[in-house]
Amino acid sequence: MAEIIQKPRGTKDILPDEQKYWQFVEKIVERRCRALEFGKIETPIFEYAKLFSRGIGETTDIVEKEMFEVKRYKNISTQDEENDQMVLRPEFTASVVRAYIEKGMHVWPQPVKLFSFGPVFRYERPQKGRYRQLWQFNLEVLGSDQPLTDVVVLLLIWQIFTDLGINDSIIIEINSIGCKTCRPKMRKNLINYLSPYNNALCGDCQRRLQTNPLRILDCKEENCQKIVQGAPQLIDMLCTECKSHFKAVLEELDDLNIPYDLNSRLVRGLDYYTRTTFEVVDISDVARQSVLGGGGRYDNLVELYGGKSTPAIGFAGGVERIIEKIKERGVKIPEIRKTDIYMVQIGDKAKKLALKLICELGKAGLAVSCSFGKDSLKSQLKAADKSEAKLTIIIGQREVLDQTVIIKDMFEGCQETIEINELQNYLFNKLRSKNV
Ligand code: HAM
Repeated sequence: MAEIIQKPRGTKDILPDEQKYWQFVEKIVERRCRALEFGKIETPIFEYAKLFSRGIGETTDIVEKEMFEVKRYKNISTQDEENDQMVLRPEFTASVVRAYIEKGMHVWPQPVKLFSFGPVFRYERPQKGRYRQLWQFNLEVLGSDQPLTDVVVLLLIWQIFTDLGINDSIIIEINSIGCKTCRPKMRKNLINYLSPYNNALCGDCQRRLQTNPLRILDCKEENCQKIVQGAPQLIDMLCTECKSHFKAVLEELDDLNIPYDLNSRLVRGLDYYTRTTFEVVDISDVARQSVLGGGGRYDNLVELYGGKSTPAIGFAGGVERIIEKIKERGVKIPEIRKTDIYMVQIGDKAKKLALKLICELGKAGLAVSCSFGKDSLKSQLKAADKSEAKLTIIIGQREVLDQTVIIKDMFEGCQETIEINELQNYLFNKLRSKNV
């Protein structure tokens, strides 16, 4: 027997029954984003590796351990071969910034507001809520350094989670990690505080002490967490501008009644962040390790990629984790609209007429389905029943001769004969009376 091939570890098949959840999340994100005049952007699923190593940071977990390389299968070498390594995107932000520069979006009216929805890839150890192919909805606003921009992004996130029906399960944790001016002082103070504990830190944090000591603050290892409890607070080391920026953001959030928790140890795992950083955390998880989304300002990234200095801010929600939460909370999800009308036919001439009608009714915007095989009348009627269509059209030899069809109301059980030239109007009226 042939080997049964399974899906790769950490990936998911999204079957028809699950689709309604994905559609629900995508529609809410799109509706809320469009209302605030965000445009949709789709970027390639693979990019040059250097895009992420430069932006996210050489020493981050994502770049060091989690990227999937993309190569031509079987490694045949040809002249037009790419010399630069390519990888599957582990996030959207770097690609959006690349596109902003490459497409000259700095000449568009600023700020440029963009959203995306799609899969990203991270070679992580698969476990509950942690996948190797995961979906994100992603928001970016490029070209404004105003605290109000941070607030509008946070408001948009709050609106999305409210529409998803899970706003009472989450809290926004927020922090400011400063700018180029405050960073040297933060580094120095943290190194001074942490160095005596060097041997007690986990292996990753021992390395981080040299490369990025701020990251030690949100290490999830118990021992490291204990050590950082007495560490100097980042908020106390902010420069005057960063302090007033953060204060303005928090005041506006208070005015809008958007709930948040200050978390002075929230640093995030990507190097490009500056100033405001935030995460949407599941409050039912006491350890607060279940993060449904995260984001922040990245005021230096456009410049780092060779563009004109452009402040920016963004956020990505983890769709699988959000859907898990929606299910856990029993949020009522609208069913995906199936077919309105099912076409049943008996005999060759009836089949021809049925196909012609499916084509015409489809053009008029009606959702019509039919049996895909050579089925008996009985099994076609059974399929009509199962399809949950509101109406069934039945065409036999006699109807072909009379140029009529039989219409069965699937809920009331009654049926009537209608002339074909009146069919379209009849169906529209009948479906309207059923609120379709
Ligand atoms: P991130 O925190 O790396 O941020 O990812 C955002 C969210 O994606 C996480 O909070 C989590 O919900 C979900 N996520 C991440 N990894 C996994 C995984 N292995 N399995 C399941 N879900 C996961 C970013 O990606 C930034 N680009 C966000 C951003 C946009 N910052 C500015 N603009």
